[in-house]
Amino acid sequence: MTNMATVQPQAILAFDHLAERYDDLFTKSLIGRAQRDIVWNVLSQTFRPGDYVLELNCGTGEDAMFLARNGISVAAFDASEQMIRIASQRLRPEAPNPLVRFSQLPIELIHQIRPERQFDGAFSNFSGLNCVVDLNHTAEDLAALMPPGAPLIVCLSTRFCISEMIWFSLRGKLSKAFRRCSGRTVAKVDEFAVNVYYPTLRQLRRSFSPAFIMRSCVGIGITVPPSYVEPWIRKYPKSLNILQAIDKVLSSRPGFRVLGDHMLIRFERAQA
Ligand SMILES: C[S@@+](CC[C@H](N)C(=O)[O-])C[C@H]1O[C@@H](n2cnc3c(N)ncnc32)[C@H](O)[C@@H]1O
Repeated sequence: MTNMATVQPQAILAFDHLAERYDDLFTKSLIGRAQRDIVWNVLSQTFRPGDYVLELNCGTGEDAMFLARNGISVAAFDASEQMIRIASQRLRPEAPNPLVRFSQLPIELIHQIRPERQFDGAFSNFSGLNCVVDLNHTAEDLAALMPPGAPLIVCLSTRFCISEMIWFSLRGKLSKAFRRCSGRTVAKVDEFAVNVYYPTLRQLRRSFSPAFIMRSCVGIGITVPPSYVEPWIRKYPKSLNILQAIDKVLSSRPGFRVLGDHMLIRFERAQA
């Protein structure tokens, strides 16, 4: 069980500041959409109408709304008050039924959740878990909220992002190109310094074991670049289709799946 002492206040402040711009910068970008489509594909294959799902670090609620449109109930949490405010504003126009509930809560405090009923599964999309220092505790806390056999989908930034290395190396920015490689970096978001952790796939498996067993892993954004390359992609939009097609071929291959911008892992809650 973790406590408030391990929560990063700087990360929360940074995302509060970013919240109003987040959808324009990422959710609505061509690259963000391309990356999210892969996650939605996996979420659709994993959860069924009538399921009750826990979402960590939900941001502005894009995934929760998607699941609600598919008849899935979501209890969605995020550490940032501003992200939760924006997500909640979407409820009435987009999901008038009570399938989604947004609440402010950091991942480090999810042991405080008292669900209406046991969750049928859980997920965390796009790097919220990269802001958490101790994923062993997160795994323990999640395990207590899910029955054996339940799926857990997590999408994290990778340690080695090949397109980022190439993009910044070509521009002579070597420290940016290799910033993830040590496993930890301090990211500047506006005036806030946020600790970001980049566990390898092996470390993640170890952190989530024995409560969770890894069932699959796919790479996201192996040749499709990170979202800060959006201006270039907008100039050459056809290139995105080509890169997406290449990613489709590479995304499940063991050598490549951990070299994208993100990795999407499907765990299963182990038998007690
Ligand atoms: C890159 S955004 C992803 C948001 C959303 N999942 C999506 O798919 O667009 C990362 C999110 O993680 C949240 N976050 C960062 N650290 C967190 C923590 N310790 N607990 C909960 N949420 C956190 C941020 O507030 C932000 O909304």
